[in-house]
Amino acid sequence: MEKLVSSWFNNKTLPQSYIFPPETRPGNHINPRSNAIPVIDLGNASAHDRTLVVQQILKASQEFGFFQVINHGVSEDLMNDTMNVFKEFFELPAEDKADLYSEEFNRPCKLYTSSANYDGDKVHLWRDSLRHPCHPLEECIKIWPQKPTRYREIVAAYSIEAKKLGSRILDLISEGLGLDLGYFGNKLSESVVASVNHYPPCPDPSLTLGIAKHCDPSLLTILLQGDVFGLQVLNDGKWIGVEPLHNAFVVNIGHQLEVVSNNRLKGAEHRVVTNSTVARTTAAIFLNPSEDCIVEPAKSLIRADESPAYRAFKFKEFLYNYVTMGGNSEKSLEPFKLHG
Ligand code: OGA
Ligand code: NI
Repeated sequence: MEKLVSSWFNNKTLPQSYIFPPETRPGNHINPRSNAIPVIDLGNASAHDRTLVVQQILKASQEFGFFQVINHGVSEDLMNDTMNVFKEFFELPAEDKADLYSEEFNRPCKLYTSSANYDGDKVHLWRDSLRHPCHPLEECIKIWPQKPTRYREIVAAYSIEAKKLGSRILDLISEGLGLDLGYFGNKLSESVVASVNHYPPCPDPSLTLGIAKHCDPSLLTILLQGDVFGLQVLNDGKWIGVEPLHNAFVVNIGHQLEVVSNNRLKGAEHRVVTNSTVARTTAAIFLNPSEDCIVEPAKSLIRADESPAYRAFKFKEFLYNYVTMGGNSEKSLEPFKLHG
């Protein structure tokens, strides 16, 4: 518990164990403000606009692997309540969170710091994190935090809405790729996991990271980023910032969608930089395949002159490899690639 960044960050200097090597530290690339990441309006309902939205999503998913959505149908009140209850969780006194703290890899609902493997970290990450499954709700909710008192009620409502939004976006993606409607609807997106990140103010943001460069192991990720900057996406070798946009969700393509689309969509690498003035709280909802789900390039996407870029694998095989490779995005798909 005393390892949590939030329990000691007021020390004035950054400990050596949080200092990244010069090649991977952000240096002065902390705040490359940019509006390059497309913002897509989901509020347009008519058939003509739907085609346009599908095109916009496909283009953004191919070029960046990232986009933001507005007019997405999740109420502003629920978004605010959710963000507030997550912030309140991290502000609770230590004794109210102690039971949830765990360095055990497989504990389903846990509060931890840095990565899932603190002792194995080369460099520690400047973040604390709360992670738990959200589906099926009736089972999962019993292991969620009991404080703040409204946590379970609000996060239950939120996880349902986030999953609905994710499924809607997956339907638009399947339409854009030319897959059957509902292609992603079953086992491929059955597991829903919440990962709530808390990044306290940092004494030297140029030397450390909140999350190092990675691509999400998910199918699709829906991120509530709040109003504090910190997320950067790697595009053409450059880090571009994702502007916090009120009431928007940040959506990104995970490794599994990269596989199913046979590399038509891009699982984009991203990282989180810290800042020295305000705490930043974000909440990712990962839509993942179930553990035994077979993931493979969609057969209907393989043209006659093309071969599949990956072999079929079980999602749990991928996860095992992802964790073993420490989240290294180049290596995590390597054992599943077909060369030919
Ligand atoms: C993640 C992630 C981004 C952020 O949790 O995988 O990339 O801004 N989070 O917290
Ligand atoms: Ni991520």
